[in-house]
Amino acid sequence: MGCTHSDFVVATKNALNPTYLNRYKNTENAELTGDQIQRVKSSWKLITNHREFGLNIMTRIFTKHLEVKNKWIFAKDLNNEDEIRKNPQLVYHATKIMEVMDKVIASYNYDGVNDFKDIMHLGKNHFDYGVRPSDFEHFEEALIYCLEKEIKNDTIFDLATKASWKKFFMTLASKLSEGIYLAEIDELNTINNCKKKNNFY
Ligand code: HEM
Repeated sequence: MGCTHSDFVVATKNALNPTYLNRYKNTENAELTGDQIQRVKSSWKLITNHREFGLNIMTRIFTKHLEVKNKWIFAKDLNNEDEIRKNPQLVYHATKIMEVMDKVIASYNYDGVNDFKDIMHLGKNHFDYGVRPSDFEHFEEALIYCLEKEIKNDTIFDLATKASWKKFFMTLASKLSEGIYLAEIDELNTINNCKKKNNFY
């Protein structure tokens, strides 16, 4: 990022939007037990059509969580379920989130040693998209709603499995949020350097 007046305005606008949520900041409490990891892995196998499932999540967000809908610049043109599910940019995000989820679930270790570098990097990108940690609560609701609807059987998607998914998503959202937080710090440093350079103090 440069240090022109418009860079400064953009940086200020982004960084002074502190919606950081403690819930997703607290990674210590988000460790999954072996049983919980197993529950997430085995129930994920029941989701066979990833494209459809990703689209279901996005449709839920776009119809029930209007607070976050506008984070996607193309969202304003999508006014009903048919338009939502056919939009190529939306299909892109739906596919991408499923790829990420699939990869994280497949590689999730039982020994507690997990490498979330890529997820933190993804979080940094999301800071640039205007996404803030509080937005992930909406995503979580949509994910759990869609899992419940897709798996149907409440002896498989029972309370313990649902709790495991919530904890799993909390881990993912914590790491995305850490990336967002780091990007926010970078942005604040940029602002401070701009201020110093332009004698704004
Ligand atoms: C409510 C929460 C979220 C919002 C508002 C959001 C928003 C966005 C936006 C606006 C883009 C750019 C799309 C474009 O350029 O067309 C994007 C890209 C992307 N998102 Fe999300 N997202 C959210 C949650 C997630 C989650 C939970 C994941 C992962 C499981 C994820 C994974 C991705 C990926 C992989 C991309 C592709 C671009 C990249 O790699 O940076 N997003 N997201």
